[in-house]
Amino acid sequence: MRRNNFQEALEDPIFNILTEAAKELDVTCYVIGGFVRDYLLQRGTAKDIDIVVVGSGIELAQKVALLLPNNPKVSVFKNFGTAMLKHGAIELEFVGARKESYHRDSRKPVVENGTLEDDQNRRDFTINALALSLNESNFGDLIDPFNGVDDLEHKIIKTPLEPSITYSDDPLRMMRAIRFATQLGFQIALPSLQAITKNKERITIISKERIVDELHKILGSHTPSLGFSLLHKTELLPYMLPELVALQGIEEIEGQRHKDNFWHTLEVVDNICATTDDLWLRWAALLHDIGKAPTKKFHKKLGWTFHAHEFVGSKMVYKLFKRLRMPLNDKMKFVQKMVLMSSRPIVLSEDYATDSAVRRLVFDAGDFVEDLMTLCEADITTKNPKKQKKYKNNFKVVRQKIKEVEERDHIRNFQPPISGEEIMKIFNLKPSKEIGIIKETIKEAILEGEIPNEYEAAKEFMLKKVKELNII
Ligand code: CTP
Repeated sequence: MRRNNFQEALEDPIFNILTEAAKELDVTCYVIGGFVRDYLLQRGTAKDIDIVVVGSGIELAQKVALLLPNNPKVSVFKNFGTAMLKHGAIELEFVGARKESYHRDSRKPVVENGTLEDDQNRRDFTINALALSLNESNFGDLIDPFNGVDDLEHKIIKTPLEPSITYSDDPLRMMRAIRFATQLGFQIALPSLQAITKNKERITIISKERIVDELHKILGSHTPSLGFSLLHKTELLPYMLPELVALQGIEEIEGQRHKDNFWHTLEVVDNICATTDDLWLRWAALLHDIGKAPTKKFHKKLGWTFHAHEFVGSKMVYKLFKRLRMPLNDKMKFVQKMVLMSSRPIVLSEDYATDSAVRRLVFDAGDFVEDLMTLCEADITTKNPKKQKKYKNNFKVVRQKIKEVEERDHIRNFQPPISGEEIMKIFNLKPSKEIGIIKETIKEAILEGEIPNEYEAAKEFMLKKVKELNII
């Protein structure tokens, strides 16, 4: 971690322009928040730069725009007293330093002008309240009234004020604390953690979109289980994903236990994050077992069963996306498909995978067959090294077979070798259900491996079958 040499953080000429503009307006200004934090953590140079002005943020933004060679457009948000401009890849956000207090039932603050320290006080975490001076007299000085640098070093998330005040002011910060802890691998200080649990109910005033944004960031991190276990521990999780909470726990009847599907799910999510960055595949991992809670049953003979949990789970995906105002588009359908098919490759890998079973898998999964395999491999969480090895090997075999079947039979995005129109012509038929039956019979024969996926073979088979079955 860096502890000094802050001048280096401000090498971009844009900072000198800010200095110049502030001087002309006779105000002081500072870089604050994520830019400073990420510079010290050596997380690369942030392109979103927050500038706090002891004075008018809007006026400073306008002045900076005038001094920049191409005079970029300034977007002004009058209600918030903020302004934004883009300069190349950099996005500068300007805000006047303020004192704030919030209404109990909304995130909309009552704003009063304040000093830099007032402004730092009202920020979320000590590590996000670090400011670098852009003023001529002390350019590059770090202003760190809450020892945020020490907290960065010790990997601690703490609030500048008493935690209940900070969280109650803006309950989204409860999720931000957990999200930063997950992204950075930091601990949340105990009083802060306790305050989150105490204020958990206040999360209900936060919009679903913002909550989902934070969930995306947790899922996008290296080890999302850190975040989900914190959401669970602080009791925030039931407000956003009760379906996951319902998976927690182990029941025992007549000496038979099932695994804890909540902790298993978190392991699956961490596993999949090691092999894919695809956010929606990560969502699929998170939700792949949600159907297990409502379908759980104990049978004297069979033990614990979760009959049709994949189907039930895929239906739940729609409701969950809708409730969280997530997009009900092809991404949702993808997650549904993954959940619905989440046991198919596993069944194949447990036994000898026949060609026809592999063909059916490719037929049903289409272009998503690799994603499905990735999900199922992540689902291997057994701690028994022998089993672990066996399952992994079996999956290798299934992957190889998928490749072979693909090369030979072209099942992915299957197109019937004989069109409905040709069937009508050959048998002199009008559009009718018989055509569907013939097409289905041909498809089944291809999937079963009775005939290759080719025109001539399919035609010969069709003529024979129609006679044999007396279809027409
Ligand atoms: N902030 C805050 N309370 C919030 C949101 C933001 O106090 N609910 C402050 C923090 O000082 C934060 C700054 O506003 O550093 C900028 O917020 P944002 O751009 O959302 O976050 P960053 O810290 O820049 O981090 P990231 O881009 O990773 O979200």
